[in-house]
Amino acid sequence: MNGLLHGKKGIIFGALDANSIAWKVAEAVHAQGGRFVLTNAPIAMRMGEINALAERTGSKIIPADATSETDLEALFRGALTELGGGLDFVLHSIGMSVNVRKGKHYTDLNYEWLHKGWDVSAVSFHKVLQSAWKLDALNEWGSVVALSYIAAQRSFPDYSDMADNKAYLESIARSFGYHYGMRKKVRINTISQSPTRTTAGSGVKGFDGFIDFAEKMSPLGNATGEDCAQLCVGLFSDLCRRVTMQNLFNDGGFSSMGVSDAVMQVFQSAAEQGANEPK
Ligand SMILES: NC(=O)c1ccc[n+]([C@@H]2O[C@H](COP(=O)([O-])OP(=O)(O)OC[C@H]3O[C@@H](n4cnc5c(N)ncnc54)[C@H](O)[C@@H]3O)[C@@H](O)[C@H]2O)c1
Repeated sequence: MNGLLHGKKGIIFGALDANSIAWKVAEAVHAQGGRFVLTNAPIAMRMGEINALAERTGSKIIPADATSETDLEALFRGALTELGGGLDFVLHSIGMSVNVRKGKHYTDLNYEWLHKGWDVSAVSFHKVLQSAWKLDALNEWGSVVALSYIAAQRSFPDYSDMADNKAYLESIARSFGYHYGMRKKVRINTISQSPTRTTAGSGVKGFDGFIDFAEKMSPLGNATGEDCAQLCVGLFSDLCRRVTMQNLFNDGGFSSMGVSDAVMQVFQSAAEQGANEPK
């Protein structure tokens, strides 16, 4: 299907490099005829990789620190001018925990780092929505998506304080989803994505083992960044007009599993090997 987003305009946060989920979303939205402004933290711009994406998709880049209300206001104003009027979609694809990055255990968190990670990963979503609200930047039936992870509902020890940030992020989608729904029929959802090899993902301790575990647990296998991009296209389109205030699992079935044959086989083989070893 082509042209699903023809005539739609938006902002895509968080494309750092070609592995970023936001990068895949930008490519998929472009392929479906959507137009957008790309944005990322000024510090991320230094890597410069986003320029190639901007060129390929014919997009303008407007840097913004998503924790800065001033930057966000300038971004929305810039996007409205660049794209010629109201916006139809926004992707929030932003996450960072200093505690995770520095390997701080959940039972020994540094609270200044916690506050920073919470602001970047969760409160920024509220700031994005509030900036759009104040400028009345979103069109009726607009669609806003943020990316989450199942550690918001279940315990994943090495995800540390990011688990709490994701729970907060998902709650914002529900709370703001009510107000924006009432005001302009704007939809606000989160996608809970499978572990995906990206800069942010690979920062989590034991990520390689974990991605294999999730693959073995999921009947459909892990959802890729490209899969996530297709779901975003669907949510941005007019095909999902009354899906709002939801957390949608894009995880190959992982979230509904207890145990799988593939995971059991690993433990059975290990048990058999142990039994055969000379005592
Ligand atoms: N990779 C995974 O396994 C996985 C799984 C589930 C959910 N997610 C979520 O997907 C989203 C995107 O992450 P990704 O995996 O594509 O990694 P990524 O590292 O490519 O993207 C994270 C982005 O956040 C941006 N960012 C950080 N601080 C910012 C700030 N102050 N202002 C603006 N932007 C800022 C970074 O520059 C980067 O572009 C995150 O919310 C992440 O938690 C990732």
